Amino acid sequence: MKVSIIGTGYVGLTTGVCLGYLGHKVTCIDSDQKKIEMLQAGKTPIYEPFLTELMAAAQPNLQFCTEYAGAVKDADVIFIAVGTPSTEQGEADLSYVESVARQITGGVEEYKVIVEKSTVPVYTSEWIRKIILRNGASPESFDVASNPEFLREGTAVTDFLFPDRIVVGCDNDRCAAVLREIYEPLTSGTYYKRADAIPQPDRASIPAPIIVTSTKSAELIKHASNAFLAMKISFINAVASMCESVGASVNQVCHGIGTDSRIGPRFLNPGIGYGGSCFPKDVMAFRAVARECGYDFRLLDEVMRINEDQRHRFLRKVRSALWTLRGKHLGVLGLAFKGGTDDIRESPAILIVQSLLQEGCKITAYDPAAMERTREVMNSGIKFVNSAYEAATGADALLILTEWEEFANLDLNRLNNELKYPIVIDGRNLYDPEVMAANGFTYYSVGRAASHPEGVPALKNGTHKA
Ligand code: UDX
Ligand code: UDX
Repeated sequence: MKVSIIGTGYVGLTTGVCLGYLGHKVTCIDSDQKKIEMLQAGKTPIYEPFLTELMAAAQPNLQFCTEYAGAVKDADVIFIAVGTPSTEQGEADLSYVESVARQITGGVEEYKVIVEKSTVPVYTSEWIRKIILRNGASPESFDVASNPEFLREGTAVTDFLFPDRIVVGCDNDRCAAVLREIYEPLTSGTYYKRADAIPQPDRASIPAPIIVTSTKSAELIKHASNAFLAMKISFINAVASMCESVGASVNQVCHGIGTDSRIGPRFLNPGIGYGGSCFPKDVMAFRAVARECGYDFRLLDEVMRINEDQRHRFLRKVRSALWTLRGKHLGVLGLAFKGGTDDIRESPAILIVQSLLQEGCKITAYDPAAMERTREVMNSGIKFVNSAYEAATGADALLILTEWEEFANLDLNRLNNELKYPIVIDGRNLYDPEVMAANGFTYYSVGRAASHPEGVPALKNGTHKA
């Protein structure tokens, strides 16, 4: 099929490249000229495993441009994947979506399906329809569908090609048939037999299940999924705080509750709170949508409060480990909002670093992918280095803020030698407290008692005696 994708961020670019790789003829459109030039040169503006390789493989099926006109007119399906940032009131700002709807109207002549791919509030499809009609398209010439994306940054391509499910929200059969055809290689399973198929992740559902709903239901599915996952993280973070108070281990509690198949073990990792371009924005937007619809969804306020509190709790741990902070030299591992990505949007790691800088700490930081982006927003008070060991060199303590795999496999002996004091404050629970103590570290983590090397007595509040 002929597909146009408007917006080439994480969502739009991954969708465009994957659909091209599945055999559709795809044109990706973005208003950012620089981004388009980069893509035309075969480079990807984001760090995402498999994306560059797939882009090269799909090259005969892919085009990149800044102009809507031809691409929209020729397309059978148009995906809208522009940003939906938060307004000051926490609602989703839909002005980019509206502007795209207006601009594509001129190209809507023969029947097309316009698909919302961006995360948008319920009723957005109706608005898109109204705007396109208002600008002169005939009612029979198009349908608006909702096809939410559940991709996670860092595993975006794998999530697209091996989805738990594909949700398609359409209000008639003609529109549903078009979207079924788009995803046919995944839902029939033919893609998975290809010699060049990317490696299959654990727990893959093959062939990919497709769920067809009404448009409004699909819109709600996306917001409700993200809000539920954020709630799961806040829930376990609250439980972790209780574990700290009573001296229980959150690992054991997670294992105990996660093995109940009704709860499941995933998204139960406590830490310094969720970040990224989706959860913070989507929980807030869903809260606002609920209010608009007349439902006071206060549970979501609590999800957000716990998330923010989690960062403050971590900062309190740093203070309790080091006493005063002014002038202290801290090594920081991780700046991205999670492992496997260079994205620092709403990163709890960045927010923690900013607070520590305000308190007068000197920071030496290392992140395998996100340093370039961090430099763009923070250029004073922070020194960037090229390895975890360099970040630790001469530091009063080491902070682990992002769950990168390479941070979980450090040479502990070397790390201990690099640090001025062998203190590690781990916001992502990457190490076993007993192993850390046995390697001579005073180790703080989330939802587990602090551990100390033999001979270093612990204080009542978990800190060790100077
Ligand atoms: C965004 C939203 O944040 C997310 O909630 C939604 O589900 C999908 O869109 P992401 O792909 O990460 O996710 O956004 P972003 O990286 O901001 O990319 C949006 C792209 O759209 C940018 O490349 C921007 O240049 C482009 N854009 C924006 C247009 O081409 N035209 C516009 O009018 C506005
Ligand atoms: C999320 C959703 O998972 C995805 O389905 C949706 O389409 C977009 O938003 P993403 O933001 O890329 O994806 O990352 P995700 O892996 O969900 O992590 C979000 C945040 O939660 C990160 O800051 C991560 O560190 C944190 N997290 C995740 C936890 O603190 N604990 C967990 O158990 C899981």
